[in-house]
Amino acid sequence: MRRELFDIPEGIIYLDGNSLGAPPKHVAERMQEVVKHQWGTRLIRSWSEGWWEAPQRIGDRIGRLIGAAEGQVVVGDSTSVNVFKALMGAVKGTSRTEIVVDESTFPTDGYIAQSVGELTGLKVRAVSPSSLDLTEDTAVVLLNHVDYRTGAMLDMAKLTEEAHSAGTQVVWDLCHSAGVIPIELDELGVDYAVGCTYKFLNGGPGSPAFIYVPHDKQASFENPLSGWNGHRAPFAMEPSYEPDAGIARARVGTPDILSMLALDAALDVWDDVDLHVLWKCGLSLTAQFRMHVSNLTSLEIITPDEIPRGNQISVRCPDAAEVIRKLIARGVIGDHRPPDILRFGFAPLYVTSADVRRAAEILAEVVNS
Ligand SMILES: Cc1ncc(COP(=O)(O)O)c(C=O)c1O
Repeated sequence: MRRELFDIPEGIIYLDGNSLGAPPKHVAERMQEVVKHQWGTRLIRSWSEGWWEAPQRIGDRIGRLIGAAEGQVVVGDSTSVNVFKALMGAVKGTSRTEIVVDESTFPTDGYIAQSVGELTGLKVRAVSPSSLDLTEDTAVVLLNHVDYRTGAMLDMAKLTEEAHSAGTQVVWDLCHSAGVIPIELDELGVDYAVGCTYKFLNGGPGSPAFIYVPHDKQASFENPLSGWNGHRAPFAMEPSYEPDAGIARARVGTPDILSMLALDAALDVWDDVDLHVLWKCGLSLTAQFRMHVSNLTSLEIITPDEIPRGNQISVRCPDAAEVIRKLIARGVIGDHRPPDILRFGFAPLYVTSADVRRAAEILAEVVNS
């Protein structure tokens, strides 16, 4: 619990950190320094004083939170773009004929898989993660670690193993788990992973996403977007593309330094966080909210009760859009996903048990009135 490190307005119970994390207090001050000193005073010299390497350096900081040793994670672009890179990398040169996608995936992943299918001639098959039915035709399977709608969490170890036994590669989307759930990418031998940084990692609106390409895949990983930042010698300005030997080959164009350095600052709050402890806090908060909502309302909770699960509770609610409007007016910020889902995210660094109880009471007053 580090609520004192965050800027959350008095009277607000913020339960939307699974969509846009709250700002750690020191980020504004750090950005002043970045703009006034690094950009203002140092001007273009800052590129060689840390900006150029920032995507790899910050990637390593995220790597620590997702079980990736140094040199395998790079920050940049959006999750959508990184899904594209990972899928194209995974299917390059394959003689297999299909891409399998979790049928309840966040839409962008499905759309991107469709584009990759159209570009490569592979067909896309949507399946329930409970029966992937992978065959010798399956080149790659794309899975969301935590379901954005329900908060249900997939068993990464079991499904990675299942994919590998079928000779299939796996791409994990960690948008809803990075920063709140312990993840061991290296240990599980995951092929590729991607994720965003503006949710539980508190990187700020539109902060850059990340991609994980493990060491043993880097030499064969072909970035389909061969931009100059991924070049072996970007400043040699050579006419033909030769990728960097390491994770920098997953870079594309000039990084969005301001956003990236806001993320870098935000990551300071994770420096000495034990994710196993934090996850227990998250499980406790979601269990408390579940109990209060069940006691105080008759709303159907669609987030599975069993562990593992993500850090959110979703409930089915008639007039969800109107209910969320009333909740926000009363200082409880969650969100709504059509047609009838209310989502409440519990970022254990700044949500307290008192918040959880009060939010459930206000929800009950709104829906029971
Ligand atoms: C699971 C998942 N994947 C991908 C995205 C979208 O990523 P981006 O907009 O950064 O491309 C989201 C956004 O909420 C998401 O929840």
